[in-house]
Amino acid sequence: AAAARAPQDLAGCRVVVSAGGTREPLDPVRWIGNRSTGRQGLALAQAARARGAHVTLVAANLELGGAEAAADDVVRVETTAQLRDAVRAAGRDADAIVMAAAVADFRPAAPTEAKIKKVPGRGPAPIELVENPDVLAELVRDRLRERQVVVGFAAETGDATGSVLDHGRAKALRKGADLLAVNAVGAGRGFGTPDNEVWVLDATGEQVAHATGTKRHVADALWDAVVKRRP
Ligand code: CTP
Ligand code: CA
Repeated sequence: AAAARAPQDLAGCRVVVSAGGTREPLDPVRWIGNRSTGRQGLALAQAARARGAHVTLVAANLELGGAEAAADDVVRVETTAQLRDAVRAAGRDADAIVMAAAVADFRPAAPTEAKIKKVPGRGPAPIELVENPDVLAELVRDRLRERQVVVGFAAETGDATGSVLDHGRAKALRKGADLLAVNAVGAGRGFGTPDNEVWVLDATGEQVAHATGTKRHVADALWDAVVKRRP
């Protein structure tokens, strides 16, 4: 039997998806980064495209294949500054922006042009970090386009101060994104795994969807929530 055709409920929409993880150079050969593989972001791009959207994928250090097939445009970036520029450029005519990329919160204050050498007898030099711009918070603040739906992701582990969902709710209120997809990471969940569990919260912290399953299934559930918010 032929595969069921996806509903074309994003036809005529332009969407931007950031995926992967940013890397901040220390020197030409080293960086500070994170474990994001970009799998969920890639699934979001594929799902949106199947539903008829024009997709710009801002790919931060994606090592997975398939980026070009998943999107109409692929912009490859390495650092948070590059990701910010690419998302904002494409975001000016986007109906929705989904920030699935894991963005480095801090970067080395003074990356060197030459490789850092170890000096015999002297220990490691401390690394001074400075804070990166919060790309998602800026998108919420600036609203690049009217009626644009801005979506964030929050990877949480839960800790002594609260559960995954507690942290997610607090972040939803703090970030003010139209939608925040909260997912549990750590201990074999989230990063690099085929499956995912996500709670979708609105800007007030109210749960609007819950999805568990493949990253593609989670992606479709998130686009359903985006479509519901479109006037
Ligand atoms: N994000 C961003 N720019 C940053 C940091 C995060 O755009 N400098 C975005 C991410 O792409 C994600 C959302 O904000 O969509 C939440 O990221 P997260 O790391 O969970 O939130 P933080 O506010 O950085 O909080 P913390 O890392 O302390 O949990
Ligand atoms: Ca962070």
